[in-house]
Amino acid sequence: MQERLSEIQNQAKEDLAKAESLEEVEKIKTKYLGRKAGVINEIVKAIPGLPPEQRSSTGKSANILKQEIGTWIEEAKVKFADEGRTSESKEIFDLSLPGKRKHYGHRHPIVQTIDEIKGIFKKLCFDIEYGPEVEHEYYNFDALNIPADHPSREDFDTFYLGNKRLLRSQTSTVQIRVMEKKKPPIRMIAPGKVFRPDTVDARHASMFHQIEGLMVDEGVSFSDLKYVLTLFAQSYFGQDIKMRFRPSFFPFTEPSAEIDISCSICKGKGCSVCSHSGWVEVLGAGMVDPNVFETVGYDAEKYTGFAFGLGVERLTMLKYGIDNIRLFFENDLRFLSQF
Ligand code: PHE
Repeated sequence: MQERLSEIQNQAKEDLAKAESLEEVEKIKTKYLGRKAGVINEIVKAIPGLPPEQRSSTGKSANILKQEIGTWIEEAKVKFADEGRTSESKEIFDLSLPGKRKHYGHRHPIVQTIDEIKGIFKKLCFDIEYGPEVEHEYYNFDALNIPADHPSREDFDTFYLGNKRLLRSQTSTVQIRVMEKKKPPIRMIAPGKVFRPDTVDARHASMFHQIEGLMVDEGVSFSDLKYVLTLFAQSYFGQDIKMRFRPSFFPFTEPSAEIDISCSICKGKGCSVCSHSGWVEVLGAGMVDPNVFETVGYDAEKYTGFAFGLGVERLTMLKYGIDNIRLFFENDLRFLSQF
């Protein structure tokens, strides 16, 4: 009898492995567990005719096998239901019901702006470069003509990490890193995060993004700078964007300029984003200071160049009429999903 039971066990296993649909599983269930002519029940019915010492052990084994086959059958049913191949699931599948909407993520508006600007400068044959966010003071200051005792060092409020390391406060660091590695001609932009312990308000955050630009060659002049930046602003904002160049000072450029763009939020009337002036500063720029060239070993008599640094958040705010920089960093989907 025990042999017969193990035969049944193997046979049931084989049958289930071959089953290809829920209907077939149901048939197997009837074959083995059916009340009237089920294989197991036949055994149970035959128990009274067995020698007394075999009866109870056969009954127990038959019961265990019944449970075991029952479990396999349930598993097989779940498998077919999961695969959506069952006749039951076909019945409840209503094609006319609306589908479940999937929420796909997308690029953050800041990343979109960076990608767009990269595209504009790629067309002008500028390379894309990157530098570290944790920097050595040398790259953030000294090499950029800002020695330790220089008063302008205080203008670049900085998160110091100790041991001459800091969170870079400007992407100008990448100018030095690239010039150390490469010889002119150089045309590059360097997007990335910068950090300043500014008081957070509608226009300031302690982390924001800049894109640095650098072009070095023989005979590069201020008019090249003006041309490239005007071309950039027109590509990004449209042909009728107004730009304003104001004389300024940066230790690593001479002469230097700050460049404003007409405030697109209030159309120049004055609002909190433009400090009621109608203009928003978006760029610092100038001709590379010869001291910087000397530091990286370039011949300052032979080469000239321009550099610029632009604020990505500001540009994005102006383009889309966003009046608060904090919106970029709060991860509020009501805001982010509009882009
Ligand atoms: N690094 C300057 C800043 O963060 C911007 C700048 C870059 C100015 C390049 C001149 C040239 O304010």
